[in-house]
Amino acid sequence: MKVLVIGGGGREHALVWKLAQSKKVGSVFCIPGNGGISELADCIEMNSGDIEGLITFSKQERIDFVVVGPENPLAAGIVDRFKEEGIPIFGPCQKGAQIEASKVFAKELMNKHHIPTAAFKVFQDYNAAVGYVRTIQTPFVIKADGLCAGKGAYVIREQSEGEEILKDLMINLIHGDAGRRTIIEQFLSGVEASYLAFSDGISILPLLPSQDHKALLDGDKGPNTGGMGAYTPIPFMNPVLEDVINESIMKKTITALSSEGVPYKGVLYGGLMISGDNRPYVIEFNARLGDPETQPILFKMESDIAPILLSCIEGNLDHVQGIEWRNGVSICVVLASKGYPDQPEKGKVIRGLQDLANKKDIMVFHAGTKKIGNEFYTSGGRVLGVTAIGNDYHDAVRKVYEAVSCIQFDGMHYRKDIGKKALTEGDDNEKNI
Ligand code: AMP
Ligand code: GLY
Repeated sequence: MKVLVIGGGGREHALVWKLAQSKKVGSVFCIPGNGGISELADCIEMNSGDIEGLITFSKQERIDFVVVGPENPLAAGIVDRFKEEGIPIFGPCQKGAQIEASKVFAKELMNKHHIPTAAFKVFQDYNAAVGYVRTIQTPFVIKADGLCAGKGAYVIREQSEGEEILKDLMINLIHGDAGRRTIIEQFLSGVEASYLAFSDGISILPLLPSQDHKALLDGDKGPNTGGMGAYTPIPFMNPVLEDVINESIMKKTITALSSEGVPYKGVLYGGLMISGDNRPYVIEFNARLGDPETQPILFKMESDIAPILLSCIEGNLDHVQGIEWRNGVSICVVLASKGYPDQPEKGKVIRGLQDLANKKDIMVFHAGTKKIGNEFYTSGGRVLGVTAIGNDYHDAVRKVYEAVSCIQFDGMHYRKDIGKKALTEGDDNEKNI
């Protein structure tokens, strides 16, 4: 089969890497791809937002099915258009993608169908929002309604900061139209988990639970980013909690969408907070695989991914027996450019990749990279996702940081504490690995 992957980040490199190993897949194309992807797939220089252009390309190349990585084309209705043209495509339709593209849509759906989430209010009027924050206690959370590349949520610890953020979002429009409408919600405490599941609109097939590190700096300090690293499995997850998540959140959301006339096919990503009493709440939903979570998850996946993606498209996911996973702990550390997340530098030569090639337990997934001649250069904020599998948390942390130390580029920075939260807890809980 011929497959087209849309996107050009670390998540798409992991998808292409996995699809290229599939028995069912003969060739992989990627639009636009990146330096690392270009070693495994034909990368086509095209705007991934040009849906009509993508359709023309897919018809010309007789693509058998398409996999959409990022949220923007999903929110723009790429799946609906490809379906109209009769080209199989993996991902939710435009209405389904609203679960990520509009936090108001997601929160109202959860409220209506009793899916556990933080209490909230929606504001369209800046003065009303400011009036409201003056009446509530910190901490609370302000969120832009629309897509902000993971940078639209603000945990507010001082009243004055809340008013400033509201001004930035609703008046200064720092995230454009995405911030015209805002949500102000209750602060939830606990531990965070990224819980992803495939769905064909009826049943679900969960992936391994993982944990992202959204903040830029060690100790979860600094501004939020798209994600600076992730690991799987997570020590505080257990089969009982997974059952609760599957029943009270994941399946319930798929059923809720279906009852609203939205058959949700693709990946449903629950960004969860697990409270001190072990109860899961939804912080947000995404309509796609996570980045960087996909990198450590797919690095551990032994099953062929292509039949799973096809079953979601065809509506027979219940025929898939389950997913086989490699043993061990998988950790991905994101190496970012100077200036990320605001104004990342680009065009720096990357050194050391060769030392990490063809290692069974190490994989360097590329995100913002470009290959020119035989050299790789930085071309974006998140540059590489160095990923390692170890026997346990200590081994994986050691291996991943040893691999990181082989790589250099001008201005390179990364978090030094990815996976380290799991070290103490994880040692007592090796049975989950
Ligand atoms: P989001 O973009 O909605 O995933 O939010 C980004 C990050 O902000 C989350 O990963 C949490 O760390 C934090 N956050 C968002 N909503 C809440 C909440 N209601 N309570 C506590 N932290 C939150
Ligand atoms: N890592 C967070 C996300 O993919 O949205």
